[in-house]
Amino acid sequence: MSKGLSVVVGGVALLIVGYALATVVPRTSNQGYAPTQPIPFSHKIHAGDNKIPCQYCHSDVEKSRHAGIPSTAVCMNCHKVVKTTSPLIQQVRKAWDEGRAIEWVRIHELPDFVYFPHKRHLAAGLACQTCHGEVQTMDKVYQFGALTMGWCMECHRGRSTPSNVLAGIEAKGSPHGPGQAAPTQCTTCHY
Ligand code: HEC
Ligand code: HEC
Ligand code: HEC
Ligand code: HEC
Ligand code: HEC
Repeated sequence: MSKGLSVVVGGVALLIVGYALATVVPRTSNQGYAPTQPIPFSHKIHAGDNKIPCQYCHSDVEKSRHAGIPSTAVCMNCHKVVKTTSPLIQQVRKAWDEGRAIEWVRIHELPDFVYFPHKRHLAAGLACQTCHGEVQTMDKVYQFGALTMGWCMECHRGRSTPSNVLAGIEAKGSPHGPGQAAPTQCTTCHY
């Protein structure tokens, strides 16, 4: 066995032991988590009422693993002129003037041993809303998806996959097996 392969097999064996343990002590999902943010930022006002595209602010989502959170400079593109008399906007302005980042509290967070690339999912034609819910109607964003391994697997196995996305993958000749949307090998998401 090559050295590289034995490292992979060793890693997988560890995962299997962990997996057995995990069924005894399951991780609880943070589904529904909606922490208080330093400034109440409404997706309904921005992405809903004012129809600002998600990617205006989450500009890395098609290019990288992460969607990213916008810097204060992005807010100031508009708020140098929009609603400047609001005390909330004055807080944004103050952070910007002081060169200080607004400390947004992270909502979604997979463990470090899980690999999740946004870019691959968007390339397959999935909408943000499939995983994040109707964010454009939310005054306060919350964790919509369970983000458990079962949640990922249900879709990769083709069970919860939106039908248009599955049809697109099947049109490519079902590279992952009949009816399946994406790979399900352990090393797809863990390495
Ligand atoms: C005007 C900028 C802006 C637009 C437009 C915007 N967002 Fe956001 N988004 C933010 C900011 C700022 C945060 C961090 C504060 C918060 O969580 O409310 C955030 C947080 C999020 C989070 C949670 C991040 C975490 O910590 O896990 C998700 C998911 C999200 N946005 C999805 C979307 C989707 C989907 C759309 C389009 C329907 C969208 N956003 C449009 C600025 C924006
Ligand atoms: C593309 C333009 C645009 C960007 C970028 C933008 N906003 Fe806004 N924002 C608006 C508009 C339009 C409103 C609604 C103004 C109104 O009610 O008259 C608004 C309203 C708000 C309000 C509500 C103010 C109040 O007192 O009602 C807050 C808070 C806010 N924005 C924060 C932010 C933050 C923080 C960012 C950066 C993460 C941001 N905005 C980025 C256009 C923008
Ligand atoms: C296939 C499901 C899925 C789709 C589709 C998806 N996301 Fe996510 N999103 C996730 C997961 C899972 C995480 C947690 C990632 C982590 O912790 O590494 C996440 C995290 C985020 C975050 C937090 C910051 C980050 O990058 O980790 C933002 C913001 C976000 N998503 C926005 C979006 C936007 C905007 C879209 C659409 C353009 C989108 N997502 C599409 C599953 C998805
Ligand atoms: C709603 C459906 C859906 C959910 C939920 C989902 N995925 Fe996916 N995933 C896909 C699709 C579709 C692809 C792209 C398959 C293709 O390009 O042929 C994909 C591709 C991937 C890839 C790239 C696979 C490769 O070919 O190398 C990884 C890694 C991945 N997903 C990890 C995850 C993880 C981790 C989660 C959970 C946190 C998750 N996915 C949740 C549908 C989903
Ligand atoms: C489509 C993506 C995906 C695939 C494929 C996948 N996993 Fe996971 N796995 C995850 C995610 C996401 C988590 C973290 C969330 C959780 O614990 O439910 C996780 C968690 C785990 C954990 C830790 C559980 C805990 O409670 O801390 C183990 C161990 C594990 N996976 C083993 C495996 C094994 C073994 C395989 C192959 C049979 C596998 N995984 C295939 C996405 C995946």
